[in-house]
Amino acid sequence: MRLLKHQILIGALALLSGSALAQQKPRINEVADAASVVDPTKADKFFDRKELMPLGAYYYPEAWPSSRWERDIKRMAEVGMKFTHLGEFAWARMEPTEGNYQFGWLDTTVALCAKYGLKVIMCTPSPCPPAWLSHKHPEVQIINAEGRTMRHGGRLQGSWSSPIYREYVRKIVTELGKRYGNNKTVIGWQLDNEPSHGGAHYDYAPAAQDAFRTWLKAKYGVVDSLNKYWGGAFWSNAYTSFDQVRIPNDKESTAGTNPHQVLDFQRFQSQEMGNYLRDQTQTLRKLISPKQFVTTNFAYYKFLPEVNLYDHKDHLDFSSFTFYWLSTYLDNAPGKLGYRLGSGLGTAFASDFARSTHGYTGIMELQPGQINWGAFNPQPLPGAVRMWVWHHFGLGSKFACTYRFDRPTYGGELYHYGVTNPDGYTLSLGGQEYVQAAKEIESIRKHFNPKAALPKAVADRKVAILWNQDNLWDLLNYPHSNQWDTWEHVYRYFSAAKRAGAPIDFVTEDVVLDPAKYPVAVAPAYQLVDRKLIARWKTYVENGGHLILSCRTGQKDRAGQLWEGPYIDPVRDLIGADLEFYDHLPSNQTSTINLGTKAYSWNNWGEILTPHAKPKYGAPAQVWAKHEGQFYAGKAAIVHRQVGKGTVTYNGIDSDDGDLELAVLKKVYDVRKVSSENLTPYFFKEWRDGFWVAVNYTSDNQDCNPGPNAKFLFGERSVAPGQVAVWQE
Ligand code: GAL
Repeated sequence: MRLLKHQILIGALALLSGSALAQQKPRINEVADAASVVDPTKADKFFDRKELMPLGAYYYPEAWPSSRWERDIKRMAEVGMKFTHLGEFAWARMEPTEGNYQFGWLDTTVALCAKYGLKVIMCTPSPCPPAWLSHKHPEVQIINAEGRTMRHGGRLQGSWSSPIYREYVRKIVTELGKRYGNNKTVIGWQLDNEPSHGGAHYDYAPAAQDAFRTWLKAKYGVVDSLNKYWGGAFWSNAYTSFDQVRIPNDKESTAGTNPHQVLDFQRFQSQEMGNYLRDQTQTLRKLISPKQFVTTNFAYYKFLPEVNLYDHKDHLDFSSFTFYWLSTYLDNAPGKLGYRLGSGLGTAFASDFARSTHGYTGIMELQPGQINWGAFNPQPLPGAVRMWVWHHFGLGSKFACTYRFDRPTYGGELYHYGVTNPDGYTLSLGGQEYVQAAKEIESIRKHFNPKAALPKAVADRKVAILWNQDNLWDLLNYPHSNQWDTWEHVYRYFSAAKRAGAPIDFVTEDVVLDPAKYPVAVAPAYQLVDRKLIARWKTYVENGGHLILSCRTGQKDRAGQLWEGPYIDPVRDLIGADLEFYDHLPSNQTSTINLGTKAYSWNNWGEILTPHAKPKYGAPAQVWAKHEGQFYAGKAAIVHRQVGKGTVTYNGIDSDDGDLELAVLKKVYDVRKVSSENLTPYFFKEWRDGFWVAVNYTSDNQDCNPGPNAKFLFGERSVAPGQVAVWQE
């Protein structure tokens, strides 16, 4: 269900010698390269900190008569927009017939933006190949798992693996780069749009099959190594030549697909998208000013897990993202107003995640009101659009942009709100709030103190969520129980950190974990490991880090195979305990464990642990929680121990409500003697540039618990549903 939107929106091998594909070395890394450093100060090159968070809006000049452009652009500037966003779907207007580049209309638009003081984010139009291209080269269109070609009429159907498509993209990107790469009104570039293949997910066209084989050859060298990694002896799955391999496809199979092959294919596809976008970046970089940034607007992650943001760490300046609060496919706060306030947790996750790739981010698409593609499309609660903007302010966004300024009156997104009503001029309900928030943020620039530092008490709580996309893929591919929800498991720890008022970074394996920067690190269901990684986690702990591992961590090697030995073999010595076995309960039954004086229930996933009497190193594990029910009552469920200057905690239970995960985090804070907040779920409190921001997605008033010297700029101590408090201390 959650992919419905993209399902709605989607609508012969081209072997060229000397193609870009052949020239490009496949990237086959299982662990991200340390290609670019996470450095928040790099943002200062593109964004003036004093401006805090400028607001902007998408605009589609190609959709309207030229007589309207000046009115619209003037209006955007008048209502407080600082920039606009152009061109991502306009290939057919830019190149109406092959090689016939027409940029006069875009030149006029950019010049009008300059006249009214708006900056521009220019986009490459690669999500929408023009009809003449698909007609001349049908092979540039992807083929879905059912074997159907995704034809002209939708978007995102261009094949990343097609050398022909790549060549045409390179040409239009070159023309754009030449034309606007040194235009002072253009502040940066967005590649493509929500890069992905939408609801088709993956490309099974011959060019993609071929590219997959090339990638495999580069990874394995000899086919026997592939057979070993994929467990080829099982069901006679082995190959004698790379040419026999096809993309795994359960629509072509009587009995599912090989999990190890699927994992490799997901790595390949994500890296293939990386190559496709990197190609665009490299084309642009040769032509554009270093003052212009290059980014893309990744779709909210939960919709499109097939895209690994970290595969773009080396070539983008930063990752931006899109988010639709009221999509109805995401979680809301319980309570009668939740569906009108939307997924505060999802948006926080999207922002913290995208920020973590380079150290800073901006929200590229912020919903300006009702949308057209939910299961149903509620009006936001009055105040909600303003709250969403402020939430991203608190999360540290360098800019916010709304999709879109001009409300569409035709095409596939009728009924989608814009900042304006269908007349293109008067402000819609959501538009009024978006504009209000823009003015409010502008008004507090005078309170900005460039020297403001994150308060120590908050920094002391900082949490690193350890992340490797392989874990997400492998768990989503093979949840092993209908009760297990991979996203919810990660969210429970993310939410626990938010409830405790902790800043959060996602941290990948290329980063050396420093306890001074990350006093606490959480690895939620980190299923795929190797011994080197565990050795690095051990060093982190010995140096004073506090590591929390959750159930399923360390069950498999990097290929997704179980260890030939005891369960979680590489992790046992680190946690000082064995995993005897795990259990699942039916949805109508629960069991309990006790932590401190409180009982917590579970039924998704429960592990039964036995502490080692004489651990190889470190102190013997203490049992923090024991099972109370089932035939294993009295056995350990959570263990904790000291190793060097730090501690390791292993929580073998996945709860439903997240209270247990919060209790574990809080107990680790107690060990460290660190204070933390007690925020109601879906009530968020963030610190940014010396400003505190609280936003309330719950259906009740919440106390933002400010410090004694708080000076409120907006709102007050008690924050009503859909409202905001902003203060300085
Ligand atoms: C986004 C997409 C936009 C537009 C919008 C509608 O996911 O990037 O182009 O389709 O959804 O809500």
